[in-house]
Amino acid sequence: MGFESILIKIEAGVATITLNRPQRLNALNQQMMRELDEAFDDVTADPAARILVITGAGDRAFAAGADIKEFLGMSPVTALDFSRNAHRVYQKVERMPKPTIAAVNGFALGGGCELMMACDIAYAADTAKLGQPEITLGIMPGAGGTQRLSRLVGKQKAKELALTGDMIAAEEALRIGLVCRVVPAAELMGEVQKLCQRILSKGDVALRMVKEAIEAGSHVDLASGLEIEAKSWSLCFTTEDHVEGVKAFMEKRAPNFKGR
Ligand code: COA
Repeated sequence: MGFESILIKIEAGVATITLNRPQRLNALNQQMMRELDEAFDDVTADPAARILVITGAGDRAFAAGADIKEFLGMSPVTALDFSRNAHRVYQKVERMPKPTIAAVNGFALGGGCELMMACDIAYAADTAKLGQPEITLGIMPGAGGTQRLSRLVGKQKAKELALTGDMIAAEEALRIGLVCRVVPAAELMGEVQKLCQRILSKGDVALRMVKEAIEAGSHVDLASGLEIEAKSWSLCFTTEDHVEGVKAFMEKRAPNFKGR
């Protein structure tokens, strides 16, 4: 399908999805959600895409949330479907068997912040502003915000953000652990590319095992999480890459991983 609200390109192992409604600060309307749903499947299935970067078009926004204009006239039943659909689509990012990175180039509000939180790693421009402002519309976060925000920054900070609807600056987001790096806006995509290169030099199977162990382990008790780790660790020993990695260390050279 040709996409209208997003752009997608795959280059040198990196798939980049750009949310592309800059005149609306990349607000996530239902068409964009349908396109993301399909694009996430495409990226998951495409072996040429080893890592996913999500960013926003223009220099003002990653995404300023769900498209508020679509809320008027929504019934409780359609609202329930809306929320469950957003959960399903964003879980595709969280569960994607390859690393996902949010390049937060401006406002990441509401559904934009929620999409960012579904990514494995978020780098933000120093100009970015983040928050869950739904409360100011008389509603609440419905695309994972109440759950992922508290898991990332703790219950108290999550409540402060979601109860006030306040936007916070990128530096504050870094301080509370909502993003993991802040860089000057002009350097954002370059820094994200450097991060991609560091990750791409590793083996795909081990990358997948790390992501899956951290994800699955974060929802269970420690003993169960350690068991998930042990199983994932043992699976790494089925790969050619583990032989290559150990040999390369002993031969004092860079490893050449094949992803198998
Ligand atoms: N849904 C639909 N349209 C949106 C939008 C959203 N979430 N966020 C911004 N837009 C639109 C604005 O309506 C405006 O359109 P217009 O030019 O046709 O009037 C355009 O994007 C530019 O936004 P504007 O508000 O003029 O920019 P600003 O710099 O004055 O303010 C924000 C920027 C982000 C503070 C402001 O747009 C905002 O509060 N947006 C809503 C954020 C939100 O509540 N998100 C959660 C939704 S659940």
